[in-house]
Amino acid sequence: MKLEGVYKSFEEIDVLHNFNLTISDKEITCILGPSGCGKSTLLNVLAGIIKPDEGNIIDQKKKIGYVFQEDRLLPWKTVFENIKLVNKKASSNRIKALIDMVGLNQFENKYPHQLSGGMRQRCSIARAFNFESELLLMDEPFKSLDYDLRINMVKGLVEIWNKWKNTIVFVTHEIDEAILLGHKVVVLSQKPCTVEDVVEIDLPLNTRNLEIRELINVRTKLIKLLSNQENQVKCKSA
Ligand SMILES: Nc1ncnc2c1ncn2[C@@H]1O[C@H](COP(=O)(O)OP(=O)(O)OP(=O)(O)O)[C@@H](O)[C@H]1O
Ligand SMILES: [Mg+2]
Repeated sequence: MKLEGVYKSFEEIDVLHNFNLTISDKEITCILGPSGCGKSTLLNVLAGIIKPDEGNIIDQKKKIGYVFQEDRLLPWKTVFENIKLVNKKASSNRIKALIDMVGLNQFENKYPHQLSGGMRQRCSIARAFNFESELLLMDEPFKSLDYDLRINMVKGLVEIWNKWKNTIVFVTHEIDEAILLGHKVVVLSQKPCTVEDVVEIDLPLNTRNLEIRELINVRTKLIKLLSNQENQVKCKSA
């Protein structure tokens, strides 16, 4: 799937500006960028929820899963029912395996209001994986989780990807998540948002850890790219 010369503005605000990006099949593409630069807008364009003002979307996927920044569970359905909802043919075993993957096995019959924010978000991640999508969009899915849980979710996602080879676009603010999960890490600029750089990481996901020299080098590069963006914001607002 490809975005070519995409532009999107909201009233006076120029958000996506001559935006070009290729999403490779069966890969995880991580998106890093400053707050408010247009990451969620980009996902909405990929999902077809927002139509660009200009530009082309080539090979747009039809079956799209989406983990939104906030969980969007149905309050009157249990964890199990919320996950089942998106793929009614799914076997109970598949749903239970997904519930297990996100560590909610004690809570499958609870309702969203009986769960913490992080648990609700984990439920919405399991639900997204139950929907057999051609493209899975994840908007800062681990944001509400503490450090240990985040690391576990990253490991869980790597395991799932190794099994199913999903095509995923994963937005995050955490450089370490991008390094552990991305086949490609796309660094975005401040608004108007364009692709600043694309860093490819060749190491297989299941061999990665943050002590590997190559990944330490990638982290240093990403920090530099992102701090350039922040400096530009400071200069603009000075
Ligand atoms: N529906 C909308 N109407 C008007 N402005 C919008 C709309 N959606 C987004 N924007 C504006 O577009 C810009 C980019 O928003 P977006 O939510 O895509 O950023 P983001 O990078 O996802 O931010 P965050 O890091 O906070 O999640 C912001 O200035 C926002 O105010
Ligand atoms: Mg966002």
